[in-house]
Amino acid sequence: MTAIVVSLPNYVQLLYIVAFALLIYGMSGLTDPRKAVRGNRIAAVGMGVALVATLVIPHIGNWGLIALGIAVGTAVGVPAARMVKMTAMPQMVALFNGVGGGAVALISWVDYRSHGSSFGAHTVHLGLIDVHFGAVPTYVAIFSVGAAIIGSISFWGSNIAFGKLQEIIPGRPISLGAAQQPVNLILFVLAIAAGVDIVAGAHSELLFIGMLVVAAVLGNFVVLPIGGADMPVVIALLNAFTGVSAAATGMALNNPALIVFGMMVGASGTILTNLMAKAMNRSIPAIIAGGFGGGGAVAGAEGAGEHAGSVRSTSAADAAVQLAYASKVVVVPGYGMAVAQAQHVVKELASDLEKRGVDVKYAIHPVAGRMPGHMNVLLAEADVPYDQLKEMDDINPEFQRTDVSLVIGANDVTNPAAKNTPSSPIYGMPILEVADSKSVIVIKRSMNPGFAGIENELYYDPKTSMLFGDAKGAVSEIIGELGEL
Ligand code: TAP
Repeated sequence: MTAIVVSLPNYVQLLYIVAFALLIYGMSGLTDPRKAVRGNRIAAVGMGVALVATLVIPHIGNWGLIALGIAVGTAVGVPAARMVKMTAMPQMVALFNGVGGGAVALISWVDYRSHGSSFGAHTVHLGLIDVHFGAVPTYVAIFSVGAAIIGSISFWGSNIAFGKLQEIIPGRPISLGAAQQPVNLILFVLAIAAGVDIVAGAHSELLFIGMLVVAAVLGNFVVLPIGGADMPVVIALLNAFTGVSAAATGMALNNPALIVFGMMVGASGTILTNLMAKAMNRSIPAIIAGGFGGGGAVAGAEGAGEHAGSVRSTSAADAAVQLAYASKVVVVPGYGMAVAQAQHVVKELASDLEKRGVDVKYAIHPVAGRMPGHMNVLLAEADVPYDQLKEMDDINPEFQRTDVSLVIGANDVTNPAAKNTPSSPIYGMPILEVADSKSVIVIKRSMNPGFAGIENELYYDPKTSMLFGDAKGAVSEIIGELGEL
């Protein structure tokens, strides 16, 4: 038996090249929010071209089943993507990513079933003669088995991440304690050992299924001990895993589209993971080791800890006066602005202030909100001019010259403890240095902490006044008061 290596017709290869060009061009648009939507569409067209190219490969398979798969995928995917709230996007990405990993694992399984008995060369003794069977090239077998293991880990890990973010599973770390890492290591070694045996020619589908199951348990055990706060980073990491597993399947199936698309997902997922971990000052091994961000909020409204009593609250009327007579205002948006869907009123407030001659900028922290680019996307949706959005490193030196920093539903990303308190869990995380500005107005509903579950020293700064309320309501009230001035 010889390996099944499908050689692709020229027109398919040509279509794939067109698809790659569109994907790369589209992705380059994602570096600029003004071009991002267009870039996304171009990349989607590229994906469509690759899909068509794959479908027109001769003898592709059962058209009825393919049509059914497309119909089910469209019926589930389109409404889900349209209806999802922006704040629920990380779990949506987790779910879709998991499906990709699961598909890769299943494809590897089917691949093994179709020519698994020729994984590894072997000889069959038939009476006086020996029949020598050729093998699927070892590299193909290695890629197929590797894709199965990584795909399975990714599928199960992503499902756990989805469950935690959707609060179906508790966000706190769930682990076997000190035994967790050794157990994970044993599972990893078992999966690899099974994989090696299969590549070497062990003809047992049961072993293949066993390998998938061990990888599945490993996927669960790796993500369960990680706290909710680290979940978006874990999702980016699992995204990279899925990409790599898809590329490995591409190698096994000799399909360049899977290789190129998979590696692009793998590479961008890895870059994103690193960027997010850096912005939160967390190392990836520390995230995998778990423990942080269990979601257990400490120091609530009533329990303002050692600082209790030193918070100054303000009214919408006073805030309006303070803002109207400022010459430079920096708006600091965070997760609370996203939850309240306050971006449109925030833009309206900024426009009113600009009409009064106030210079307004927006300070964007790389992990403000719950996903990369969260604030940029929301503010772009509200037509905030892109040149008013300033990244952390650009805006930080400007705070000293800022009259009023208006913090709207942002918490951890402004917490001076990241600079001043070595014992703080967020110590070392780069922050927006709003405390340097001449005065600070914070809009939030209570004294409750943010995602990291820690108190914010900024609220006790004498320069800070708190405007308690829902972000949308409070900003609308300020707009109303401004109109009266
Ligand atoms: P948070 O620190 O989570 O603070 C958000 C604040 O918004 C809360 O303190 C909450 O206070 C307030 N809030 C909630 N709903 C509100 C509403 N309707 N109106 C007004 N305020 C409301 O958010 P952040 O400053 O944006 O920081 C992001 C956090 O997420 C960081 O800890 C970051 O490490 C983490 N994280 C982000 C990412 C990415 S990529 N963005 C990834 C992983 C982790 P009240 O309850 O008192 O209103």
